[in-house]
Amino acid sequence: MNSDPADRSALLARFSAILGAPHVLRGADAAPFCTDWRGLFTGQALAVLRPADAAQLAACVAACAGEGVAVVPQGGNTGLCGGATPRDGQVVISLGRLNRMRAIDATDMVMEAEAGVTLQAARAAAADAGLDLPLGIASEGSAQLGGVLATNAGGTATLRHGTARDLALGLEVVLADGRIWNGLRRLRKDNTGYALTKLFVGSEGTLGIITAACLRLVPAARTREVAMAALPSAEAMLGLLGLLRRAGESALAAFEYMSGGALRLAVEQIDGLVDPLPSPAPHYVLIEFSASQPDAPLALALENVLAEALEAGLITDAVLAASDAQRAALWRLRESLTEAQQRAGPTIKNDISVPISRIPDFLREAGAACTALAPGITIVPFGHAGDGNIHFNLMVANAPGQGEALMHEVAEVARGLGGSFSAEHGIGQLKTGLLAGWRAGVEMDLFHAIKHALDPHNLLNPGKLLREHHQE
Ligand code: FAD
Ligand code: MLT
Ligand code: ZN
Repeated sequence: MNSDPADRSALLARFSAILGAPHVLRGADAAPFCTDWRGLFTGQALAVLRPADAAQLAACVAACAGEGVAVVPQGGNTGLCGGATPRDGQVVISLGRLNRMRAIDATDMVMEAEAGVTLQAARAAAADAGLDLPLGIASEGSAQLGGVLATNAGGTATLRHGTARDLALGLEVVLADGRIWNGLRRLRKDNTGYALTKLFVGSEGTLGIITAACLRLVPAARTREVAMAALPSAEAMLGLLGLLRRAGESALAAFEYMSGGALRLAVEQIDGLVDPLPSPAPHYVLIEFSASQPDAPLALALENVLAEALEAGLITDAVLAASDAQRAALWRLRESLTEAQQRAGPTIKNDISVPISRIPDFLREAGAACTALAPGITIVPFGHAGDGNIHFNLMVANAPGQGEALMHEVAEVARGLGGSFSAEHGIGQLKTGLLAGWRAGVEMDLFHAIKHALDPHNLLNPGKLLREHHQE
């Protein structure tokens, strides 16, 4: 690697020639791109580049490859594991100007869009065509399609429609040497070789830079019913889910868990949030039924389930939203949990998944393990219970220095129940140690072989997802 400052000047001049000087940011202009959303990670980038299209981006990557300079792709910078934060001297490539919505085809039910389109803008464009891009995350106003794909984001619609990988039909990707792979195919079925699209999804910018995507759309919901129920125990959640599936497996669009602690923290921290139920409960779920038919009798179906659940002691109370405003208010409670925890103080975010049937065991065992390790800790779990994905978050102001140990403890409980330590936020730079331990052996050798094949000089987001030094 060449570290002579004179050579960096030449590289910076090359960037300006490719992009125009205003799109090469340095110093204070670059600073907002150099810290992650949670403020956990910071680096001093050599420059932040803002290409306008894939050709400019590819030319910048080729220039970096020629100089042995590492690049870090960045979308909306909402990632929760520091994946988009540069190390000192690296070049950030911000995708924000690749923001063209290229096409929506209502017959193929496909969208083709550039990577810098925000998820919110992409969903709005799909809605204008009477369709839905079924990926719901609270950060959708800033998160971009490229970031969503690179992290294989999940969210509140995963229960019915899967993660970003399930929606990705084709990609355009800039490779480590600056070549462009055009895999923008819109096919539902295509068995021509290795599934490269699926490989790039979830690779966190370590194998290539996504510049555009073809995404599967679904018919928009025309009837929606939303309810929030209070539960006496985590076990009751499984019983309630069973009743909901029996009443309307195809209508069940969301089954989101909120612990009483998480809900109360949100109401405390965020103006305008109100707990709609009169008495506090230890557990809540937010339920959505939806259908593409305009007059589906979902309210009655949901009311019947809630009545049966009340009768069976699976819930202690519930509210069924009666208007769009009430539906939005219930969803706002759920979607404010992350922001509320961020405001309340330092948090350890655990993003585990277990088989759905083991959620109650997980909550109990992880709670006991964390309390034993750090008796003053406040536990505020919530998550996508219908997918077995729980954000077992810990407010750690009273447990200074114990974050790492607590994260490992929670991961071990998930492992013991047949789970994973990362269900949707990925690895970034926060969890490379955990990944190396969990996937050690043949699987880790394969990961490194793939990385080496696509990025032999380790210039694409090095030190993210994989640790830099691996012994076979
Ligand atoms: P960034 O943060 O910019 O980048 C994330 C990673 O992707 C980095 O490794 C980066 O290098 C890489 N990357 C970015 N763009 C590209 C590209 N074009 N090509 C290749 N690599 C790229 N996540 C969920 O899964 N589910 C949720 O429900 C959810 N809710 C959230 C709520 C809040 C309030 C916040 C702050 C975050 C939430 N997240 C959630 C995490 C985050 O929003 C998602 O991971 C999102 O997909 C990241 O998109 P981004 O554009 O901000 O990516
Ligand atoms: C969510 O489910 O709201 C997100 O994954 C964000 C978080 O875990 O805080
Ligand atoms: Zn989540």
